[in-house]
Amino acid sequence: MLPENVSIIEVGPRDGLQNEANQVPTEAKIQFIQLLKGAGFNEMELTSFVSPKWVPQMKDATEITDSCLDETRNFVLAPNRKGVERVRLTDVSAIAVFAGVSNSFNQKNSNRKTDELLSELLPLVQELKSEGYFIRACISTAFYCPYEGKMDIEDTIRVCKKFVEAGADELSVADTIGMATPEEASALFTRLTKEFSSTMLTAHFHDTRGMALANIYACLQVGISRFDTSAGGLGGCPFAKGATGNVATESVVYMLERMGVSTGINLAEVMKAVDLIEPHLSRSITTPFRSLYLKE
Ligand code: HMG
Ligand code: MG
Repeated sequence: MLPENVSIIEVGPRDGLQNEANQVPTEAKIQFIQLLKGAGFNEMELTSFVSPKWVPQMKDATEITDSCLDETRNFVLAPNRKGVERVRLTDVSAIAVFAGVSNSFNQKNSNRKTDELLSELLPLVQELKSEGYFIRACISTAFYCPYEGKMDIEDTIRVCKKFVEAGADELSVADTIGMATPEEASALFTRLTKEFSSTMLTAHFHDTRGMALANIYACLQVGISRFDTSAGGLGGCPFAKGATGNVATESVVYMLERMGVSTGINLAEVMKAVDLIEPHLSRSITTPFRSLYLKE
């Protein structure tokens, strides 16, 4: 049975742009976010307060945040205490922290092995919770790691559990390199719903091998109703070899709405945002929805 409504969390301004080779002008990012907000998103990842040496594209995080906060839920990513200190200077109330399941991925992405990273992040999550922040924990390489291969489901559950015990409100569980199949998506998310029945569970699929829509459909069948998507299918993690775009917002909205599942998102408005951002990118966006919805 399908849910009546789902929540779509737009991650294009963050995951979508972080891997982009061209430095996108701050003003274009702000317009992109504003157009997306006009499409109806109630939750969005705006940017990340990561090291600008590691991800120069995100160096304007403060400016983006200060310009784009509104009454909806706006996430910003923070990788460490230094990032959190920068976030505290803004009016943000929802912070996303991130950790992978695999040691090799965490070493490349955060310069720490998994346990070392968790021992820094978990006390930070507890502290932020006591200050009233909403905490989203993004769990990378939950299915496969580009360096270590298939992850053991028990290791994924173990990492998720640590964040839930530290007080995380939400787990966004990711197929970082788009290798999961619908069977695997169903198995992991079934287990997650059993283990963490009072935590918001979100599925984050990259579409590297064209599996993302099928995986979302599999997740819907096991009761998941929150999905991270990126306008234009932009995205990828610079530290995960072979990680390409997130599942495209427009494909997910189209599929769900056609199946009678309400998203609250206006597809034509999403395409205006895609149209705005494309000239600033190093590649063209090939989504078919553009010609279908933009030219009214
Ligand atoms: P490090 O080099 O170990 O950190 O990197 P450090 O503490 O030694 O600092 C190095 C320099 O960076 C210092 O500057 C720090 O001040 C500065 P210096 O003294 O040399 O001038 N620095 C910072 N500056 C600003 N903000 C900060 C910050 N931290 C340090 N927050 C670190 C460790 C975690 C910082 C680094 O590895 C990093 O920034 N990693 C971010 C990687 C990233 O952004 N990945 C993409 C997001 S995760 C993702 O996409 C996956 C997801 O979509 C789910 C999925 O699909 O799997 C969520
Ligand atoms: Mg991602």
